[in-house]
Amino acid sequence: MEDYALDAVKAITTREKPAYETIALDPLTPVLGAEVSGVDLREELTKRQLTEIKDAFLDRHVLVFRDQDITPEDHKRFAAHFGPLHPVALPAPGSDPYVLEISASAESKNVAGNGWHADGTADAEPSLGSMLHVTRIPEPGAGGDTMFANMHLAYEMLSPAMKTFLDGLTAVHDGAQPWGEQGPPAEYEVPVNEHPVVVRHPETGRKLLFVNRPYTARIPQLSRAESDAVLEMLYRHIAGTPLLACRVRWQPNTLVFWDNRCVQHHAIWDYYPHSRYGRRVAIDGTRPRA
Ligand code: SIN
Repeated sequence: MEDYALDAVKAITTREKPAYETIALDPLTPVLGAEVSGVDLREELTKRQLTEIKDAFLDRHVLVFRDQDITPEDHKRFAAHFGPLHPVALPAPGSDPYVLEISASAESKNVAGNGWHADGTADAEPSLGSMLHVTRIPEPGAGGDTMFANMHLAYEMLSPAMKTFLDGLTAVHDGAQPWGEQGPPAEYEVPVNEHPVVVRHPETGRKLLFVNRPYTARIPQLSRAESDAVLEMLYRHIAGTPLLACRVRWQPNTLVFWDNRCVQHHAIWDYYPHSRYGRRVAIDGTRPRA
């Protein structure tokens, strides 16, 4: 590994960690994710528990809560501690406008999120984060894990020259792009927004890489060929650097809360023809800023 990349890994693995009294953390990898114990999401959390969960969220970016037999109301109540709930982009008729059902079965032709992405980055204000509560998993051992990747480290591991090059650029994110050739449904008001390629996390101020394959269309400061080449290089860097990632193996009643501002995720569809079901609640975010 190049010295600058090694320095980035060292910096992230040796930084000071928050101390916890009311929860316990079991890291998933040295750079991302943790299982959190000591919390029952059916009950109202104490102020101290919430503060510690917020600290853990900013430090580990992906929090895994096991054995949470919660209702959609418990789920929304927990999410609301982090900000106003973020409405579902295209809610099914009669469904809760804040609860997205994530469902796959033998009838599925594809599943949501089966590729590296962050959620809704074509929005002017993409979500702060999402909480996915999975209640049905494919047969044990039949897959359905979700991977997450740390976009702070993805940025920090780039060469100093590449970081300087990317720092001044923006990228157009297009909400029609994930729909491919079939295009989005007629009722979808397609969001298109320009965000910096390198943004700062609004709470920690740390820089991170903010482009993803499904939504990012082009870097307008570059020619089409240059933009395609730079974006492809960055997507390969993200997908081809396993060190950036952690992997969550679901059990029924696992809830995962991820920071959509600084991680990408990939729902792995390796369980056909088995079924998987969960509910996702998202929280409002803010406009990404350099
Ligand atoms: C998603 O939010 O992209 C889906 C995540 C998952 O199903 O694991």
